[in-house]
Amino acid sequence: MSCCCQTEESTTIQSVSTAIQLSALEDLINRYRGVEGSLISVLQGVQELYGYLPRPVLEHISLQLGMKKARIYGVATFYAQFRLTPVGKHLILLCQGTACHVNGADKIETALCDELGVEMGGTTDDRVFTLTEAACLGCCSLAPVMMIDGQAYGPLTPDRARKVIRDIYKQEEQSREEVGA
Ligand code: FES
Repeated sequence: MSCCCQTEESTTIQSVSTAIQLSALEDLINRYRGVEGSLISVLQGVQELYGYLPRPVLEHISLQLGMKKARIYGVATFYAQFRLTPVGKHLILLCQGTACHVNGADKIETALCDELGVEMGGTTDDRVFTLTEAACLGCCSLAPVMMIDGQAYGPLTPDRARKVIRDIYKQEEQSREEVGA
């Protein structure tokens, strides 16, 4: 017999999940059920599925894996790799490592914030972009550099950075038109 709490909890999960995500989430939970020290792997799996760590999903995991919510949130907020808020379709990592910093990363940040209409860490209203800072991205010869969806762009000037954003917006519009056609 299920209690009313479980029913409410599953409804909330469904509101942030598609059927495919729900099934993948259950697979993830089953994979790590009873496995000691698996919390980081579970959270990485959740973030891969949703792009961030939705609170209802963390609560579901807490119930299913018998982990205290405080422990889950403690780990989720301790590591910079985890995000508790939704991100845009395209994640911009703007490098703030030493090479990029001395080559003008601040000016790139100003241009990106202006072009996107967000502050660092923000997501555009249309949820197309999220702008975040990153430590060295490992391609210092391109400094200053940003990475979007795994692709590095550099060396950047403020104008080049704006153009990359505009080009991606154009591609987004084209694919929307194709879908609508
Ligand atoms: S410092 Fe920016 S890529 Fe290394």
